[in-house]
Amino acid sequence: MNIVLGITGGIAAYKSPDLVRRLRERGAEVQIVMTASAEEFVTGTALQAVSGRPIRSNLWDKEAEAAMSHIELARWADIVLIAPSTAEVMARIVSGGAPDLLTTICLATEAPIALAPAMNHIMWSNPATQANREVLEERGIHIIGPGIGSQACGETGPGRMLDPDAIAATVFNLTGGKGQGLLEGRKLVVTAGPTREAIDPVRYITNRSSGKMGYAIASAAAAQGADVILVSGPVNLPEPPGLRVVNVESAEQMYAATHEAIIDADIFVSAAAVADYRPENAALQKIKKNEESMSLVLVRCPDILASVAALDSAPFTVGFAAETENVAEYARGKLEKKNLDMIVANRVGPDCGFDRDDNSATVLWSDGEQNFPVSSKARLARDLIELATQRFLAARGTDTQPRLSIISTKD
Ligand code: PMT
Repeated sequence: MNIVLGITGGIAAYKSPDLVRRLRERGAEVQIVMTASAEEFVTGTALQAVSGRPIRSNLWDKEAEAAMSHIELARWADIVLIAPSTAEVMARIVSGGAPDLLTTICLATEAPIALAPAMNHIMWSNPATQANREVLEERGIHIIGPGIGSQACGETGPGRMLDPDAIAATVFNLTGGKGQGLLEGRKLVVTAGPTREAIDPVRYITNRSSGKMGYAIASAAAAQGADVILVSGPVNLPEPPGLRVVNVESAEQMYAATHEAIIDADIFVSAAAVADYRPENAALQKIKKNEESMSLVLVRCPDILASVAALDSAPFTVGFAAETENVAEYARGKLEKKNLDMIVANRVGPDCGFDRDDNSATVLWSDGEQNFPVSSKARLARDLIELATQRFLAARGTDTQPRLSIISTKD
């Protein structure tokens, strides 16, 4: 697939080399076209090195135009992707203006166009930007994201460029392109987030899981070409592009949704922090505070992970273990007791694990283990998906030669 990757002037341009790598590892040829302001944020030298092609930026560069003119570039592209896309370039495309190479290509191409916006959340919410987004969508231009979260300006809200993996997966889905993802043709089910167990109509028992780890795993699997169903507890995260999300609330609902999704699945990753216990009887009306103390009778919730691993046609089953002490020892106990193929042991506490953008883990299987030091959850998720895929293929006897190099951090 031939991709013209337009890079415009936003701080998210620092993610561009990673995005180029994600597109190229899926088999795409990437021709970068930078605007003048993009050059303020990322160097052409770095981008040329990762894309393997000379960078284009100037509509009036005679030598470059002689090699491949802007019209030829517009024809060459199977898709024009602009990431990051500023509010300014959105407005220019809406107006039909073409003062530079990138917007000229947008005007001259018949290929699909996709924009991954990245800007301050107030700029994104501005009625002018939203009106431009609507016009672009009406014209069939794809808008990928943006995500919600903390921003370079120190504020929080919608406007973050999505993770390069997620953008790459969406681009390949949009074009129906077959990449070279490790999980092409495979089905994965991932659970993520907490569950809520009702005490009465206004109160519930829950935990500190944000869903970030599970969502990152689902995105990483989709980026490798898998058909992913993400069964999600209540979280405050945008739906990742390129996969199906089933929203649930309680452990029982997550159990039912997982068993519905699991049919024909190749791999199951249980990253959700599912309640172990729930109130035996949720009150139908709000409980009044009449007594000095009160007791709740709790009963066990179904163990989703163990029940999937026990299926006759169980998929390759990956559990998580969230522990505050004896992390590896307790995790190995769960690996054996629940009859899992692999378990990801992570320490949780006030300064690690839950509701953060980073994590570390030790992955255990019957006769081995591997440590992953602290990294972003997106990076860790990619490493975990690669390792799970290797072990899945080895277990199924379809490929005992690892196709990936994983940096072993085992001490
Ligand atoms: O969501 P984040 O804020 O990003 O945080 C990530 C995380 C810490 C929640 C995640 O990395 C993690 O560790 N998830 C598993 C949390 C957990 O419930 O661990 P556990 O050790 O209590 O459970 C062991 C395994 O059994 C888990 O795979 C769990 O999904 C599964 N389980 C547990 C109980 C239950 N009733 N059903 C289950 O399937």
